Amino acid sequence: MAREVWNTRVGFILAAVGSAVGLGNIWRFSYTCYENGGGAFLIPYFIALLTAGIPLMILEFGLGSKFKGSAPMSLKRADKKFEWIGWLGVMSGFIITTYYSVIVGWSLIYLANAFTLGWGTDTAGFLFGEVLELSDSPWVLGGFAHKVLLGLLATWAIIWVVEKKGVQGGIEKASKIFMPLLWILLFVLVFRAVTLVGALDGIEWYLKPDFSMLLDKNIWVAAYGQAFFSLSLGMAIMITYSSYLPKKSDIVNNAFIVSLADCAFSFTMGFAIFGTLGYMASSKGVGLQEVVASGVGLAFVVLPEALNMLPGLKAITAVAFFLSIVVAALSSPISIVEGFAAAIMDKFDMSRSRAVDVAIGVSLIGSLIFATKGGLYWLDIVDHFVNIYGLMVVGILEVVAIGWVYGGDRIKEWVNTYSDIMAGKWWDVSAKVVIPIVLVICLAQETLNGINEPYGGYDTNALLIGFGVIVLGAVIALMLPLLKKEVE
Ligand code: ALA
Repeated sequence: MAREVWNTRVGFILAAVGSAVGLGNIWRFSYTCYENGGGAFLIPYFIALLTAGIPLMILEFGLGSKFKGSAPMSLKRADKKFEWIGWLGVMSGFIITTYYSVIVGWSLIYLANAFTLGWGTDTAGFLFGEVLELSDSPWVLGGFAHKVLLGLLATWAIIWVVEKKGVQGGIEKASKIFMPLLWILLFVLVFRAVTLVGALDGIEWYLKPDFSMLLDKNIWVAAYGQAFFSLSLGMAIMITYSSYLPKKSDIVNNAFIVSLADCAFSFTMGFAIFGTLGYMASSKGVGLQEVVASGVGLAFVVLPEALNMLPGLKAITAVAFFLSIVVAALSSPISIVEGFAAAIMDKFDMSRSRAVDVAIGVSLIGSLIFATKGGLYWLDIVDHFVNIYGLMVVGILEVVAIGWVYGGDRIKEWVNTYSDIMAGKWWDVSAKVVIPIVLVICLAQETLNGINEPYGGYDTNALLIGFGVIVLGAVIALMLPLLKKEVE
């Protein structure tokens, strides 16, 4: 079977940006920024992007474009011993997409309600009561939350339609519609926000750095974690997407464009979100700190409340806001499913159509747990664990396997062949030294934090859910290379 290719370079870049830009830029970036000192967070975030995000993106693009395979296949072609690392990436992506698709489902529900501001005045009651029907603990699943289930099924249906149509006809086409639309929506939202009274206070809080916060190790851990999640690294996606590139591709430049576009989106979205929050705080006559919430509450409780309070154009702004979340979010699970489906296609010599059915079928089943009434707890726990013990571990393994064992110079030579900007000494230092050291420190720090104070105040048994999921994923990743049936 001939390998599919992107129609144009722009198509590839839009698809890669589509994968990168998602809930991570809107939902996660804003609250991570809020939890880590507002403007203070931007400095470590930008450093994380330059020292780890972009170099690892170059490595992943290099791997995919050189070895022309899904993540497990590309790593295997670099060295037979490395196939499992690719599967670990596939498993991390798979775990992320199971809960990510559920949040896309919520966003669809909110989009449908945005036309009439259907969440009413009690926005917390609407989210936790009407939509999520939240139970008391992770141990009480309590059946499905019906609205969430409906949103989830709609999400999978859209992903299925796009994925079935393949790289050019599905992913590339969808990205060419989604991405321009998303940037237009972004500018509409920013313009709307900055014209509100009090917006500047919110934006000032967002941009004002508090340098003393930089001494807090946790800010740095959050910054590296956010950079990885947001750039879709360690999820088997970027290796797969770059495997569809033609031979003469400018790898380094592509990596810079995709990473900087992703960062620019998050940064610009911050103006819309914190501007709107600034307006809300000033209308209520309170400080910004008193209106912001962390976690899911920011996008699904506080912003609907802020939208209710707008002086005009409420419904239009609400539709623009939730449409931007839906459009941004959809292309990310599409890319994760592509990384998964491509891995099965390579491994079992399966047709795209069947591989997509299998990948989506398994992911849909996995996502059902998060659509139950206890699903939010599971989502919160699994999100926390997979970002640390999934993505960061895959990142470390990739740089050690490729940078040190396979040979960073060999990949560097490949990526530089057709690139305007060269990966020079700075890339060696980042990929081979900075990334492994920083990520190991982050892992150790997060593990210590978790031991001292169990994440999110959950009981230890609940946290075993997080570990259980990760360990299961790792066992599957280790076993898959033992299955032989595959094309070389
Ligand atoms: N990179 C994707 C996001 O940021 C997963 O949402």
